[in-house]
Amino acid sequence: MKNMNVAIVGATGAVGVEILSCLETRNFPLASLKLLASKRSAGKQVAFRGQTLTVEELTPESFAGVDLALFSAGGDISRQFAPIAAAAGCVVVDNSSAFRQDPDVPLVVPEINPEAAFDHPRNIIANPNCTTIITLMALYPLHLQFGLKTVIASSYQAVSGSGQQGIAELEGQVRAIVDGHPVESKVYPKQIAFNLIPQIDNFADNGYTKEELKMLNEGRKIMSLPELNVTCTCVRVPVYRSHSISVVAQFYKPVDLELARKAFDGKPGIALMDDPATRTWPTPLDSTNGDTCYVGRMRRDLAVDNALNLWVVGDQVRKGAALNAVQIAELLASR
Ligand SMILES: NC(=O)c1ccc[n+]([C@@H]2O[C@H](COP(=O)([O-])OP(=O)(O)OC[C@H]3O[C@@H](n4cnc5c(N)ncnc54)[C@H](OP(=O)(O)O)[C@@H]3O)[C@@H](O)[C@H]2O)c1
Repeated sequence: MKNMNVAIVGATGAVGVEILSCLETRNFPLASLKLLASKRSAGKQVAFRGQTLTVEELTPESFAGVDLALFSAGGDISRQFAPIAAAAGCVVVDNSSAFRQDPDVPLVVPEINPEAAFDHPRNIIANPNCTTIITLMALYPLHLQFGLKTVIASSYQAVSGSGQQGIAELEGQVRAIVDGHPVESKVYPKQIAFNLIPQIDNFADNGYTKEELKMLNEGRKIMSLPELNVTCTCVRVPVYRSHSISVVAQFYKPVDLELARKAFDGKPGIALMDDPATRTWPTPLDSTNGDTCYVGRMRRDLAVDNALNLWVVGDQVRKGAALNAVQIAELLASR
């Protein structure tokens, strides 16, 4: 692996902090590391590998001498600064949805389509949507076995998916309710504490939300399955961290439960946690702060032919964002 000059854009956010942790724990080959955020955070000090790094304000000049920039500061910042970084000769791995459907921007999950990372004509590589990554980590091994045809899913998405402000809103509301104070909602359209919100992102004209359409469009692109059918309802839940997805997956070939269970043997990043006899199934807390996504409750579906019903959980800040981006960076460093 070659040592790289790396910048993190959005280094103080929920994903940025986790990117730092992944670079540190995975011993990423670094020549230098630059932390970038808004003016608000400039000057903030962060410990990394026994050193103290100072956060700098993001400017168009930030990318001189940088080989690789990991962006996690939202779509507007990516749209404005990723092309500037790319023009400066830096490869961008972008966590926002800004470039995911651009045909010249690969959309990469290293366990599924690692080769795509090396074909990046715009110098931009997109990190997929968090719910999509976690769902596909479970579906791809099954697809290799049986051929995936249709996905019917409901997601249960943690508040940290809305960044630091989502976490603060849930915590603040729980405290207000326990203390008997009025509840304020700023991040979500309704109270999230002790409630569920069946809307994530804005609505498209067809009644689906943009988050739900990401599962369709990104799933097709990552697995190179242009005919894949996907229908999904995405729900925000009062969980701090780790998304869960309930999935009915229909296949072209007849499904066999034992073969389906074996499909996960030896596959990195995904494991079965599934034994009804011992009430073994994964919860969001089981995957929180970890790198592994878990599958449980796997069974033949009673309503849909050739289908499996399963429950998937994964830490969306790690595998759904930071870890996946650092894995892409590792692929680039390996060549
Ligand atoms: N959270 C997740 O689970 C998740 C999962 C997948 C993808 N993503 C994507 O990752 C991105 C970041 O999400 P997040 O959850 O980490 O958000 P967040 O916690 O709100 O953090 C946002 C980061 O962007 C920085 N930022 C904001 N405005 C800026 C500006 N004008 N110039 C430079 N930096 C600026 C912030 O810096 P300051 O501290 O200075 O404000 C902060 O570091 C988003 O595109 C999101 O869709 C998030």
